[in-house]
Formats: sequence, C-alpha cells, structure tokens
Amino acid sequence: MKVHKNYPLKDLNAFHVNVYAKYFVRVKSRDSLIKILKDPKLSKEKKYVLGEGSSTFFTKDFDGLVLKLNFKGIKIVSENESEVVLEIGVSENWHELVLFAIKNNWAGIENMSLIPGTVGAAPVHNIAAYGQNFEDVFVSLDAVDMATGKLKTFDKKGLQFAYRESVFKKKLKNKFIIVKVRIKLEKATKTNLSYHSRYESLESELKNFAKPPYTLADISKAVINIRSRKFPDWKIHGNTGSYFKNPVVTKSQLKKILKKYPGVQYYPVDKLTYPNPDDPAFDHSNHVKVAAGWLLDEIGWKGKRIGNVGTSPNQAMVIVNYGGANAGEILAFAEKMSSDFKKHFGVNLEPEVNII
Ligand code: EPU
Repeated sequence: MKVHKNYPLKDLNAFHVNVYAKYFVRVKSRDSLIKILKDPKLSKEKKYVLGEGSSTFFTKDFDGLVLKLNFKGIKIVSENESEVVLEIGVSENWHELVLFAIKNNWAGIENMSLIPGTVGAAPVHNIAAYGQNFEDVFVSLDAVDMATGKLKTFDKKGLQFAYRESVFKKKLKNKFIIVKVRIKLEKATKTNLSYHSRYESLESELKNFAKPPYTLADISKAVINIRSRKFPDWKIHGNTGSYFKNPVVTKSQLKKILKKYPGVQYYPVDKLTYPNPDDPAFDHSNHVKVAAGWLLDEIGWKGKRIGNVGTSPNQAMVIVNYGGANAGEILAFAEKMSSDFKKHFGVNLEPEVNII
C-alpha cells in the first residue's frame, strides 16, 4: 500500500479543479483500511473518502489524507420468484450496476440510469431521478467505524433518508466508511413513467423509439437521452449535475411565485415524485419543493456564460466548467446565481454539491 504525497486530484473532482491532496492512498481491502485508520501518523490526519469525485467540489488543496477505495463485486445474497437482494462493493460504478440489473430484468433503478459516481455515494446522497428513489430499493449497508475500525450494519431506519440527505451527511459525517451496500430489486417489470417536465416526459421520449409495453432497457435509454441533452459528460466538461437543491418553500411563497410565473413545477417535499398539482399528496404539508431550474431559467440563467464558467444550454441548474476555470470563478458564478435568485424570489438556494 503506497501513500502518495502531494497527489493531483484534477481527475477526481467534479469540476476538474487543479488541486492536490497532502496524502493519497488507494485502499483495496478492509484489512488495509483498518491498518491506515490505526497508523500512528495517518490516523491524526483529516480524512476524505472519495468515490469517483463526481459530486465533490474541492475548492482548495486538501490538507489531509484522501482515501480512494477499491471495493468491487456484485453478488446475490437472497432471491425468490419475485425479488432479488444484491450485495455490492461500494466502488462499483452506479450506472454499471443499473445496466447489470437491466440485463437481468430486475426492476427498481432503471430510471436512475447515468447518474455519475459510485454505489457507495448512492445511500449518502439518497440519489433519486426520473421518479425513482434510492431509498425505495435500499436494504442495508456495512460501514467501518473510523474511530474503532469495527464493522457496523445500518438498516433503512438508521439511514434517516430525506431529500438528498442521510445520516452520513449529518450526525455521522466523517465517522464511518461505507464498504458494502445491499439493495432489493423486483423481478416483475413494473415501470414508473411519472416523470414529466415543461418540455418533455418519459413517455414522450419513449414514443420516439419504442412501443409499449416498455422494457427496462427502453426506460433506461429514454432517461439517458433526456439526461444527455441536459448535462454534459462530467469527465469532459466538469459539472455536478444540479449544483443546487430544489428549495422548499411555504405554500404562500409558492402562491406568490405562481402569480408571477404561472405553471412553475413543484413537488412534494421529501421523496422525488411527479404528481399533478391537484394530487392529494400536496394536502399533507404546508411546504412544497419548487423547481429552481425553471425559475433560474425565467430570470435568464439558462445557457449563461461568464468566462470559462456557464450553465448548460438546456438546464439552468447545471453549472459547467467549460475549460480551465478555477474554484474561485465557479464559486463566484454560483454566488451570483443564488443572490439573483434570492433577489427575485426571496428564497435561499442551497448547494447540492459537496463543497470541500
Ligand atoms: N426547467 C426549465 N428550465 C431550465 C431547467 C428546468 O424550464 O433551465 C424546468 C423543466 O422543464 C422542468 C422543471 O424545470 O419542468 C424541473 O427541471 P428538471 O425536470 O430538469 O429537474 P430538476 O428539478 O432540475 C431534479 C433533480 C435531478 C434529477 C431530475 C429529474 C434535484 C436538485 N435535481 O432536477 O437530479 O435528475 O430532477 O428527476 O433534485 C442531481 O441532483 O444532480 C440531479 C441531476
């Protein structure tokens, strides 16, 4: 196990910012992970566990130890005629897992096609897209306690899932290193076509190239088509998908916004679902989540460029490094966006990306 000093992180962070880690180590086994955690010199260092870096925005050199895990493998741990439970090493690529599930005709994650990053990041951020939520397939995970080196299993209740939230972003931040994740998929092809936006829907996209009944592969292809129009490949043009979270507003704030911008899309607060505005799902809470991308577009932020930083021409929430921008330029661009948003709507935008 080699500990690198002053290691370049340019290819391991979402915006390809040119930063360095004081120490960097690739970890292939739980034994070597425990060895590092107990190492007298390294144990004192601040630590950051990196997946592929697709939702990490390093704004400066990292003054500590970056751990790049390499825990691979997908295995079936239980199965019956209707369901299968998979155990997956955290370093597996998320989209590769989706493709593997589709190939086996196991449903539950096909709408989350092409989300960048590793399987280990999925429970941390409680990823969700196009009508499916990670929390709905999650069973349990194993994580190493960074203080003791002991393995602990967490079930769904222990994860405290919310919109892009889990216990690992709050109370247990930097306390555990996830090594294995278990998910449950369905053998029956039950599709979720609820996603619709101002310009398109999953169904309208599917109609372009397939006929019902749609297969899991059809749905995956439709999601890939929609996503590819909105987000550039982060490995080529650095971006983190949505830079901000969709903000939660009160129904009276929403009323004001709708008066000025009728038709703006909004959603229930927690899980990502796509009900129509008259759906009873909205009656239960005094709050809704409003589509910040739509509103940013209304105030001129779609396809806007300042130097090497800009937003995607098809999605105002996606900030892109079009080449060579440093962290300061990206942060300044994001700050301009959020203060303009605040000025127009009186609502704060919170970054979704992990800013380090
Ligand atoms: N819209 C515009 N103009 C824009 C951007 C969006 O009019 O410039 C409209 C869209 O047409 C749509 C609405 O605003 O009617 C919302 O946009 P979109 O459907 O693209 O989704 P989003 O709310 O911006 C969320 C997630 C995405 C996820 C999509 C699809 C967050 C922060 N983002 O985006 O997740 O893929 O829904 O389910 O919750 C991510 O988190 O990085 C991410 C990509």
